[in-house]
Amino acid sequence: MLYLDHAATSFPKPAAVTAAVLRWYHELGVSPGRGDSQRTTEVTRLVEQTRQGLGRRLGLPGTRVAFTSGATESLNLFLRGFLRPGDRVLTTAFEHSSVARPLQALQRERQLALQILPSGTGGSLPVAAVQAALATFAPRLFVFTHASNVTGAVFDAAAFCAAARAAGTTTLLDVSQTAGWFDLQVGADAFAGSAHKALLGPPGLGFLAVREGVPVVGQKQGGTGSSRALAEHPAAWPTAFEAGTPNTPAILGLHAALHELDDAGMPTRRARAQAAIDALAAALAADPRVVLLQPPSGPRTPVLSFVRHDLDPAEIGAILDQADIHVRTGHHCAPWVHAWLGTEAGGTVRISPGADVTAADILAVSAALVD
Ligand SMILES: Cc1ncc(COP(=O)(O)O)c(C=O)c1O
Repeated sequence: MLYLDHAATSFPKPAAVTAAVLRWYHELGVSPGRGDSQRTTEVTRLVEQTRQGLGRRLGLPGTRVAFTSGATESLNLFLRGFLRPGDRVLTTAFEHSSVARPLQALQRERQLALQILPSGTGGSLPVAAVQAALATFAPRLFVFTHASNVTGAVFDAAAFCAAARAAGTTTLLDVSQTAGWFDLQVGADAFAGSAHKALLGPPGLGFLAVREGVPVVGQKQGGTGSSRALAEHPAAWPTAFEAGTPNTPAILGLHAALHELDDAGMPTRRARAQAAIDALAAALAADPRVVLLQPPSGPRTPVLSFVRHDLDPAEIGAILDQADIHVRTGHHCAPWVHAWLGTEAGGTVRISPGADVTAADILAVSAALVD
């Protein structure tokens, strides 16, 4: 099977990642911070190193990184723990349901005022539009994705965060689509991300990292392996955002993945996947039935969405499936962007390779689509 759906989750995981997960199941078996055995000490050390590895990538100390079940939980935790009744929140047309749905729930529950920045020409998000919205709407929070999971457009998060800081607005950045592909040190106040996409970790794991001084309160109460006598859940980071037995095998898998993904190799990995996307875009553009939904210029993740005049995305997905090629079709859990792309009816066909994609893989996709 040719797997080209890395924007959903990366597959296969590197052997070192599955080995680290299996080591927990076969040899370690304990949770961090629960007891004092040698094994517990080793697992606790590995978990703390993983926090530090993530923190280093985000420009925050490891102590400000909490593990969650995924970016979805991280976004829910931050939005529910930060927003107060009547707050004004700015967001964008490119958000995933994991931002759109909690925001809309909180809009009803806490009477938020919500402004959604529209897509600019061809799926862009110009800094000037962000600056104008910050000035006129004066939001308390600006929550936005670093990259569209439909078009692959990477937004100028550093400029957006600088503009928000100057306007006194807190930023929450969803790095699910860029972690592992792009530098994340863009100065956001808070980051939510997934371990299982380009970071190459196991599913069921994500992170919430928040700069010191941002007033966000934990939403869960439970066991922490510490402070037994306290009736309240500890307020100190990262425990404030973690309760119950953690997904330790997944964290150890991410530990191995972060070793695998040395920062120096990131541009090369990205360039390899991007070259494949460019080759595929060139091949598809030769077909007059194809409309590519790529942003006009600027940085992109290795994601290519397209539609065809003669077939639904689902039908194209079925043709590729017959050729044993796995891609994603539909709306990709992005509720708002399709209105701007003109793809509301059936969504798009989305092709998203990993860094180990080959020229032969791309040829296989174009060959399957020629009739
Ligand atoms: C932009 C974006 N945000 C959030 C998520 C949710 O991530 P997770 O599966 O880790 O909850 C995804 C993944 O589908 C995504 O693409």
